[in-house]
Amino acid sequence: QGGIADPGLITLVNKLQDVFTTVGVQNPIDLPQIVVVGSQSSGKSSVLENIVGRDFLPRGTGIVTRRPLVLQLINRAPGGGKPNGVKEEDISVGLDKEANVDEWGEFLHIPGQKFYDFHKIRDEIVKETEAKTGRNAGISPAPINLRIYSPNVLTLTLVDLPGLTKVPVGDQPRDIERQIKEMVLKQISKPNAIILAVTGANTDLANSDGLKLAREVDPEGQRTIGVLTKVDLMDDGTDVVDILAGRIIPLRLGYVPVVNRGQRDIDNRKAITAALENEKNFFENHKAYRNKSSYCGTPYLARKLNLILMMHIKQTLPDIKARISASLQKYTAELAGLGDSMLGNSANIVLNIITEFTNEWRTVLEGNNTELSSVEL
Ligand code: GDP
Ligand code: NA
Ligand code: MG
Repeated sequence: QGGIADPGLITLVNKLQDVFTTVGVQNPIDLPQIVVVGSQSSGKSSVLENIVGRDFLPRGTGIVTRRPLVLQLINRAPGGGKPNGVKEEDISVGLDKEANVDEWGEFLHIPGQKFYDFHKIRDEIVKETEAKTGRNAGISPAPINLRIYSPNVLTLTLVDLPGLTKVPVGDQPRDIERQIKEMVLKQISKPNAIILAVTGANTDLANSDGLKLAREVDPEGQRTIGVLTKVDLMDDGTDVVDILAGRIIPLRLGYVPVVNRGQRDIDNRKAITAALENEKNFFENHKAYRNKSSYCGTPYLARKLNLILMMHIKQTLPDIKARISASLQKYTAELAGLGDSMLGNSANIVLNIITEFTNEWRTVLEGNNTELSSVEL
């Protein structure tokens, strides 16, 4: 399983969300949105799928992503057996023997229908894209909203966008370039967005549309990560070592080279696990990368995103602490108001949870300090 976050981070953030829900505070941590930008067919959808660790996005040649896909990953503890509220008709949507009943998708435009078969999620994205844009290469800024519930994800939003393109094809509007640019800018200008600027390693970095657009909203490169795809398709004797070393277009958060599935792998339905294994072998055995293979590939990209999330949480910590003490004061006042006879269970339980949590949180963050400060960003 891929997955954007390590289980430690998932558990921690969930505990935090739970405790705050208990005391009536919603969304203590507003985790960043991760937005992918880049030219058409640069590999954006492939990168997102590898990060999530599941096959569910339409991919291929030509303009495939034609509406923004706002993908909300929602952490949900494994329930065992059928999740609450599963009805027979849901099961017909694709719950087969192999389906994992702990992971499913739901579209905003089809409320209440749970998709356990991720290939059916892909079919629905294609269908819903065509419903708004026609079968040709038209685009629409109307987002498709998909939620994925899983024990293996961090509650977080990922955004897949149409690729940047210059030349209209078929009956595409003549101002397609401007339309897509506006769509992308709208998503990446949010200060809370982490921009994954995707560029094919077999193209010239100086011409990277993704990087150019990222720079418009993040000129200092504070929240842009360069992702170099198709490293396997580079000409013999060429490599991305100079880019990684920051000698071409430096980015504070750096670049991560990856190898996704090629079109033939997709046609042959190569599994994500096999693709990740292939990627690992590629970097470990390539003479230009083998001495730095731990800084290459999807798992490293996911780890890097994790650390960025951790730092974000750390920055949010003073605010969280302020909210904890506000809750404490509120409950202390309520306790006093209740008088002795009512002093007891529920309020005390909440106080205990908060105290316990604060201690645990401190330990975990302190434990992570060394890693956070040593990470090369
Ligand atoms: P998007 O248009 O940016 O979302 O790009 P896709 O993820 O749909 O990929 C476009 C095409 O490039 C597909 O045929 C992919 O199989 C192929 N592709 C993407 N990344 C890689 C890669 O790292 N190596 C190879 N060989 N092909 C890739
Ligand atoms: Na690009
Ligand atoms: Mg795409």
